[in-house]
Amino acid sequence: MKLKTTLLAGAIAFAPLTAFAADLTIGFSQIGSESGWRAAETTVTKQEAERRGIDLKFADAQQKQENQIKAIRSFIAQGVDAILLAPVVATGWDEVLEEAQDAEIPVVLLDRTVDAPDDLYLTAVTSDLVHEGKVAGEWLAGAVGDDKCRIVELQGTTGSSPAIDRKTGFEQGIAGNDNLEIVRSQTGDFTRSQGKVVMESFLKAEGGENICALYAHNDDMAVGAIQAIKEAGLKPGEDIKIVAIDAVPDAHLAIANGEMNATIELTPNMAGPALDALEAYLANGTVPPKWIQTESRLFTSADDNQAIYEQKKDLGY
Ligand code: AHR
Repeated sequence: MKLKTTLLAGAIAFAPLTAFAADLTIGFSQIGSESGWRAAETTVTKQEAERRGIDLKFADAQQKQENQIKAIRSFIAQGVDAILLAPVVATGWDEVLEEAQDAEIPVVLLDRTVDAPDDLYLTAVTSDLVHEGKVAGEWLAGAVGDDKCRIVELQGTTGSSPAIDRKTGFEQGIAGNDNLEIVRSQTGDFTRSQGKVVMESFLKAEGGENICALYAHNDDMAVGAIQAIKEAGLKPGEDIKIVAIDAVPDAHLAIANGEMNATIELTPNMAGPALDALEAYLANGTVPPKWIQTESRLFTSADDNQAIYEQKKDLGY
């Protein structure tokens, strides 16, 4: 049974209810399966729910915000206990989040943030997306030294918080290095196929020999770009340095093979901390912090990437 709450400015806006995890029904609006990392997050979320005896209602939005809004409305109509939302883009959520709030259903954001008042969701489990970009930029600045370096950038999905924040962070990371310049920047939509297509266009427009480095907002786009670079007769990782984000198994393999140089790890286990927070909140009203930050870690050729690849490859990526 849900308890009624009085909404106070700045106070938590959802009613806690007393329930055991085994009784919980949680809706999960997932973006889709654009990347290996996304597929792993879906797998881990389903496993975490099953392990806790939670009935997880899963909805794949196939990259469309309108499908996510429909799924959330359907979860509200079904009277779920809570909603997990991985928001495809940052804007346009206020109305549906208000509907969830009116229904006293707490929403937890997974891996991406939204531009909405933070009293409309219980907490957000994400990495520091700006920091990830900054680490990538600082790594590249260090790897290049004083040489002139013309950089191409593959952005994530337009309007998504990782695309916005990883771009900002990277620019911060290379700031003050006048020898580094981003000469092309375009979305590859976080997919391998688009990463390849857009890298082909960069190579054609700039000439491969004039590109010193690629910064990709995720590993899948970097892996697609590696293929394009090879097909252009160049050596990825040598002729063109490559840094990306996620640390999926294929990125570790590419680093082990000398075809990529660095990646920053994003854990696919957002559901663990999210469900911990929800269970505590629903059981006894424990209010989590508004941001539950996951760790980011840089991997380079200094790490044993072959061994890490072997460890990670069976984890559902
Ligand atoms: O929101 C996280 C990003 O979304 C991951 O870095 C990317 O691979 C995914 O599609």
